[in-house]
Amino acid sequence: MAHKAICGVVLANLLLQLQIVFAKVPAVIVFGDSSVDTGNNNQIATVVKSNFKPYGRDYYGGQPTGRFSNGRVYTDFIAEAFGIKLTMPAYLDPAHNMTDMATGVCFASAGTGYDNATSDVLSVIPLWKQLEYYKKYQEELNDYLGQEKAETVLREALYIISLGTNDFLENYYAVPGRSSEYSVEEYQNFLAGIAGGFIKALYGLGARKVSLGGLPPMGCLPLERTRNLLFGGGCIEEYNNVAEEFNVELQGLVSKLNNQISGIQLVLSDPYDILLDIIQNPESFGFTNAKESCCGSGYFEMGYLCDKNNPFTCPNASKYVFWDSFHPTERTNGIVADHVMRTSLAGFLVP
Ligand SMILES: *[C@@H]1O[C@H](CO)[C@@H](O)[C@H](O)[C@H]1NC(C)=O
Ligand SMILES: *[C@@H]1O[C@H](CO)[C@@H](O)[C@H](O)[C@H]1NC(C)=O
Ligand SMILES: *[C@@H]1O[C@H](CO)[C@@H](O)[C@H](O)[C@H]1NC(C)=O
Repeated sequence: MAHKAICGVVLANLLLQLQIVFAKVPAVIVFGDSSVDTGNNNQIATVVKSNFKPYGRDYYGGQPTGRFSNGRVYTDFIAEAFGIKLTMPAYLDPAHNMTDMATGVCFASAGTGYDNATSDVLSVIPLWKQLEYYKKYQEELNDYLGQEKAETVLREALYIISLGTNDFLENYYAVPGRSSEYSVEEYQNFLAGIAGGFIKALYGLGARKVSLGGLPPMGCLPLERTRNLLFGGGCIEEYNNVAEEFNVELQGLVSKLNNQISGIQLVLSDPYDILLDIIQNPESFGFTNAKESCCGSGYFEMGYLCDKNNPFTCPNASKYVFWDSFHPTERTNGIVADHVMRTSLAGFLVP
């Protein structure tokens, strides 16, 4: 009995300490693309949508939300890991008010990129517009919490930036324009320049803790393998190399800005290695399929093509690395979030 009581006290203390530690990050604020969009595209006129079944099949209540997944996205898991909440509200979703959004909000829009020309391809919310929404949110938070408290929350919040894949796969390699203006290397520099400008703008608005997302091994997305089908359906090495190079460039940017900008705590959250490991060794992570997606035939379906009546959709998405031809399953998102928490965000957990 006494032993149990002592354990109880120790546990209570530990939980209290954890709460204090977690309180260091009072909010999570997200900018980006479909890797982290939690429903903003539901509210705009674009074809890039996923607010219908079978999306959200394994989400709370089995509800489609506009997340490009069978369940939660990566940033939902991050918010949970900081002890804040289980799901990130989308800023444009009328179902959410400041009670939800005072602990963080998502401005991301599926299909967008760093480059304005990328968001133009499918008429989604450009990154600069996400920042305009953030400024509006700041005012709303001031009204809700009072200026002093709001400033503290915005200063201590974790800002997550997650995009870039679409700049290459939906824009540079897919439509004419940028590829005739820029070599790949020049385009990478162009995008990194926009990323740097965005981080500086965020800092100017009060942000201090910032996670810049790296690119995934985008040549291994099922849709890209399908493009490569005539050559065996392997990953498109060129795209993976571009992603790796870009991540190296972003790491350089992160180091440079940490030196240049006083008081900023900028980290690169790079999903490349863990995702490639999962894709190359799916069994050791409990997956049975890393090549095709769960939804539909597994070769090309996403968005409206991912249809709830498709008889080929897999019964258990947790066995698949990819949910649709462009996006991971909830289970993959959880593993990536866990990895990122340990490798780049752990510093924000300790006082
Ligand atoms: C937000 O909505 C909830 C649930 O409808 C309500 O209880 C709460 O008072 C609202 N908060 C604000 C700030 O309007
Ligand atoms: C993107 O568009 C916005 C709004 O027109 C503009 O302010 C910004 O400079 C553009 N960004 C780039 C890199 O051209
Ligand atoms: C789905 O697959 C996961 C991973 O292999 C497994 O843990 C889980 O039990 C499966 N669920 C069902 C309902 O079979």
